[in-house]
Amino acid sequence: MANTQFDRPIVPPAKTVWVCQHRSCLAQGSAETLKAFQEAGVTGYTIEACDCQGQCSSGPTVRIGADETTEETWYCQVKPSDVGQIAERHLQLGEQVEEKLNSRIHLRFYF
Ligand code: FES
Repeated sequence: MANTQFDRPIVPPAKTVWVCQHRSCLAQGSAETLKAFQEAGVTGYTIEACDCQGQCSSGPTVRIGADETTEETWYCQVKPSDVGQIAERHLQLGEQVEEKLNSRIHLRFYF
């Protein structure tokens, strides 16, 4: 049976990094972002290309599945130069990189 979009989970599993490889994100350099994650030497996580995540205007979009320490995380405008800090701070230390969070998903209020 052929795979369809419905064969895939709608949220990334724990310890999985999805890097959108659909049109808008590709036009904004997501192939290089995916390559940077693949070459970052990340251990304990699976790096996967994924289809459109509905955040096309703020790509490249990167989603990381929730795990025991971190909620599901959406990053936006992720350039290859951002991958090192996401790999170190999020994937190794379990802390979100606030400055790259997608503000449409992760609402933050400061008073
Ligand atoms: S093309 Fe990447 S989120 Fe839509």
